[in-house]
Parts: sequence; structure tokens; C-alpha cells
Amino acid sequence: MNNREHWGSKAGFILAAAGSAIGLGNIWKFPYIAGENGGAAFVFIYLICIALIGLPVLIAEIMMGRTTQRNPVGAFKKLSGKPFWVAVGSLGVIAGFVILSFYTVIAGWSIGYIVEALKGSFSQFSDPGVSSAYFESQVGNVTWIVGYHTLFSFLTMGVVFAGINKGIEKGSKIMMPVLFFLLILLVIRGVTLPGAEKGLAFLWSPDWSKISGQSVLIALGHAFFTISLGMGAMMTYGSYLSEKDHVPSAALQIVILDTFIALLAGIAIFSSVFAMGQDPAAGPGLIFHTLPVVFAKMPGGVVWAVLFFLLLTVAALTSAISLLEVVVAYFVDERKWKRQNAVMVFGFVVLLIGIPSALSFNVMKDVHFFGKTWFDNADYLASNILLPGGGFFIAIFVGWIWGFDTVLIELKKGSESLFDKYPIVIKAWKIFLRFLAPVMIFVVFLHSVDLLESVWHQIHMQWVIIIIQVAILIKLFHKKK
Ligand code: PFF
Repeated sequence: MNNREHWGSKAGFILAAAGSAIGLGNIWKFPYIAGENGGAAFVFIYLICIALIGLPVLIAEIMMGRTTQRNPVGAFKKLSGKPFWVAVGSLGVIAGFVILSFYTVIAGWSIGYIVEALKGSFSQFSDPGVSSAYFESQVGNVTWIVGYHTLFSFLTMGVVFAGINKGIEKGSKIMMPVLFFLLILLVIRGVTLPGAEKGLAFLWSPDWSKISGQSVLIALGHAFFTISLGMGAMMTYGSYLSEKDHVPSAALQIVILDTFIALLAGIAIFSSVFAMGQDPAAGPGLIFHTLPVVFAKMPGGVVWAVLFFLLLTVAALTSAISLLEVVVAYFVDERKWKRQNAVMVFGFVVLLIGIPSALSFNVMKDVHFFGKTWFDNADYLASNILLPGGGFFIAIFVGWIWGFDTVLIELKKGSESLFDKYPIVIKAWKIFLRFLAPVMIFVVFLHSVDLLESVWHQIHMQWVIIIIQVAILIKLFHKKK
């Protein structure tokens, strides 16, 4: 095909892509947002969002990468060439920088907490008040926070530096089984604690009263973040696939693995939190404030604490490498840089951009831009604007612009059996990609940028949706003629 590196095996691709998907989103974020939004009821809605919107867009992203064998900018350039679409690809590369810059800070805390656990610092935690104060003092220490951010950034650079086969694929093949093994150990530990059943009941008994329009939007937004959609990470990983590979089946496996790990993390965390009598609705502090208290009260807590934060670090690392790879692939493909140089230069740039994020917890705590700290701005910009925006345009591009006949020809390569046996699946994909995904993402987007609330009273959202649907139908009708 060309001299671009390719995954050594299908399993290599699936593990690397699942590694990108499985990260802080699964272990840190999913349990606490499920806890805050009605447990099983939220999980149910989240699963629907993943199946009906996440999976179709994931297939589209991987397909664009595989067809063009390029990074997001190169992919849009090759398939359309229009400046608008090239700009959409560029936003993906920018999102890579932005997400990495705050992701490495949280991942750095996780490494720091492995060390703190080993030092026995958690043994003094009698209640979450003490552990929160400890957390605040750690993140308030500039050397601690910047040091671990730097260490994690170097680890990420090291893996990407070694290339697709020797770095990302090999690293994922080692780290993903380790992650799985650690999580199983933690689940067994959690569910065998006396009182664990209350945690499981919390996670599995739906509280429908907590479900609102807002929680549906949170579920969809999280679906994007957790499967690394909307910024070309999966497109870039897809660009190292060959035409032999069955894209829909690979995408399905990635989504199943990601969901399974999020649910296991929920089980491990809530069974322990309930067994140790802690607050399940502690929000974002659940992992860094509440869990250390849980470990302090648990027999052999030091070991479990080390294993847990190791799990979190490994999960974050396999995601961070996919973020850096998007940036590196752009400079390698489009600017003809050598991979190693691109990793060193842009790994370093990301490290620098991340420093204000790390300082947002100490010296820059009171420095606000648009009413938020640097860290919160980076998170907000990426999770609420760049990812849903990217997902929307990818769905529109593959559904409407690329040319659906060509899309189907490309999709069929490697998955002929699906076309022969289940043509209905292909039809469903087309409908989800063309209509459901763009409309739903648009609604999430309005919500995320806080427009929904103010617009809601003046325009009924249904009308917005109907207008978009009609516009899409008109375009469809127009094309047929
Ligand atoms: N999917 C990762 C997580 O759940 O933590 C986060 C992420 C990685 C988002 C890579 C986007 C991305 F491109």
C-alpha cells in the first residue's frame, strides 16, 4: 500500500484503540457521574447513546482513517480538499494538544498517589475531610504537581517515540492485560467486603427520578469522551489499518471493551465505598478524596491503594499516547517531520501548555480567563466544544459529503460478510449517521455551550430539531433528483 507503518495484527489495533478509549473517563469520571445521575437509570441511557450514536460515529471515524491512511487534517484534505473541512481536521489536532495538556496533570496525580500510598500516607485518613485537605495540600505544592505532570508526559512521549508497532502496539499489548487483571482483582476485593451488596444495589437499582434532559445530555457527552470520538484519535489509529480489516466488528469490540471496563470500575469503586460507609455522591473527588479513606479502612489497604492508582495510571497512559499520536501523525504526514523529532518537539510543547493547568491548583488558582481557571478552560473547551463539534462534522461529512456510495465501497472492504448477511445493519448505520447522530450531537452542543438554557425559553428545542431534519431531507431529496 505504502511505507506507512501498520498494525501487526487486528488484536494489536483493537487493544491500542480500546486503550485509547479506556482511560480517566472510565475509571475516574464514569463512576461518579453515574453515582450523581441515578445509578442504573443513567447507565441505561448511556448504553443507548453508545450504541445508537457512539458506535456509528466510531465506524465513520475509523473508516476515514483507513481509507486515506492519514491523520485528521490529511484525511479531510484527501477526501474533500475544501478549506472548511481541512479546518475541521485541524481542530482535531488542536484538541489533541488541549486534552493532553490537562489529562497529563490528572494522570500525574495518579502516579503521585501510587507513591503516597507506598509511603503509607493514607493510613492517617479517618474521614474524607482529612483526605481532601491532604489532596489540596499535595496539588497546592508546585513541585509535586508539575513534577508528576512532567514524569507522565515523558512516559507518554517514550511510548509514541518508539513508533506504532514497537511503541503503541507493543505497549498496549502489555498494558491492557495488566489493566484488566488489576481491575478484576479490585472488583473481587470490592464485592467480597461485608456490606458491598449496598454498593451494587446502588449501581444496579435505577432511580428514574434523577433522570432529566440534563442527564441524557451528560450521558451523550460522556459517550463521546469515553470512546475518544470527535477529534481524530480513532481516525489516526484507523489510518494504520489495512483494507483486510473488518471495521464494524473492530468498532463493536472497542465499544464493548470500553463499556465493560467502565461498568467494572463502577462495581469495584461503589462496592468498596458502600462497604466502608463513605459517600457515593462525592462527585469528581470520589477517587482522590473518598477512595483513600476507603483504602485506609480496608485490611491490606496499602496494597489495594497501590494497585488502584497503578490501574488508573496505566489506563491514562494508553489514552494519552493516542492523543499525542494525533499531533505527531499530523507533523509526520503533512509536514514530513521525522517521528522522533515530532515527538520530542510537540511532547515538550504539550508539557509546557500543561504547566498552567498544573498551576491552576496553586499559584494560578485565582487567575481566571472567561470566569474559569486555565485547567477548567482546557477541559471545557475540549470536552464541551471541540469533541462534540468534531463528532458532529464527522457524522455530516461521512453521511452526506463524502459520497455515500464510495463510503459503502470502502466499508465493504474486509466486511463483505456483514453486507451479505445483515444488510439491515448497514441501513441502520446510514440512518443513525445521517440523522440521529448529527441532531443529537447538535442538542448536546447547544447544552454544553450553555446556550440551551437561555435559548430554551424562547425557542422550543423540538423546532430546532425539526428544522434540521427537514433541511437534511431536502438535501437528500435534491440529491436523488
Ligand atoms: N477516552 C479517554 C478516556 O475515557 O479517558 C479520553 C480521550 C482519549 C478522549 C483520547 C479523546 C481522545 F482522543
